Amino acid sequence: MLVVLKSNYEELSREAARIVANSIRQNPEVRLGLATGSTTIGVYRELVRLHRDEALNFSRVVTFNLDEYLGISPEHPQSFRHFMTEHFFSHVNLQPRNIHIPDGTISGDYEKYCAGYEAEIQSAGGIDLQILGIGRNGHIGFNEPTSSFASKTRLKVLSKATVEDNRKFFGAGEKMPRLAITMGIGTILSTRRVLMLATGAAKAGAVAKAIEGPLTASVTASALQLHPDAIAIVDEEAAAELKQKDYYRDVMEMTALFTPGKLS
Ligand code: F6R
Repeated sequence: MLVVLKSNYEELSREAARIVANSIRQNPEVRLGLATGSTTIGVYRELVRLHRDEALNFSRVVTFNLDEYLGISPEHPQSFRHFMTEHFFSHVNLQPRNIHIPDGTISGDYEKYCAGYEAEIQSAGGIDLQILGIGRNGHIGFNEPTSSFASKTRLKVLSKATVEDNRKFFGAGEKMPRLAITMGIGTILSTRRVLMLATGAAKAGAVAKAIEGPLTASVTASALQLHPDAIAIVDEEAAAELKQKDYYRDVMEMTALFTPGKLS
């Protein structure tokens, strides 16, 4: 994994948005995998700015979101569809037909629905660049500890830790979803490039385990060590428990010297 250290959240967001914007400039039909969550808000803010100030064009970009709560309508303020509309979709010129988010209102044949979502990704040509956050328990998407590294899109039961982490977003006394539809680890490993973002001290333990720990289904982000082109962009607080920071700094310096634009 290539580890990019940034001093704060602003810089991390700008760097991630720069990589996404370059991928759009190189291929206007790029297929992006998107994540929700507080970590991603700065990236979307910066992409919206690039659209406004530098005419970054999303008209042919295709998007697939990682996950959605089950049993929640797209209009619900905590639905991931709502999050994406509020922070990104309503501010750029993405075509509605090019936007894909798992449907949290389905019932019945979940397996068929999830296989259909995978098939849509395949028929679009696969995901070129996948944005990820990381949970405090090391999850990516809603692939909770013990998820198979070969898993594809499916229904997952959310862990207590995840429910607790997300409770703050729901109203007092409001029922929290316990289930979600999520791309699998196998789906994520099949993407062409992954950008994992982590900010803040609360993520430091998960980040160190994911990047420097052993491969384990107990920390599903560690599966990214198997990805041929995974980049972790981490701010100082989230990097606090990494042991090889000097090495990552050397790599960043040498990469810039020998392969300028490697990250573009
Ligand atoms: C969101 C997602 C989750 C989050 C993770 C971090 O689509 O799949 O894995 O990326 O829970 O969430 P935040 O950024 O809110 O700390």
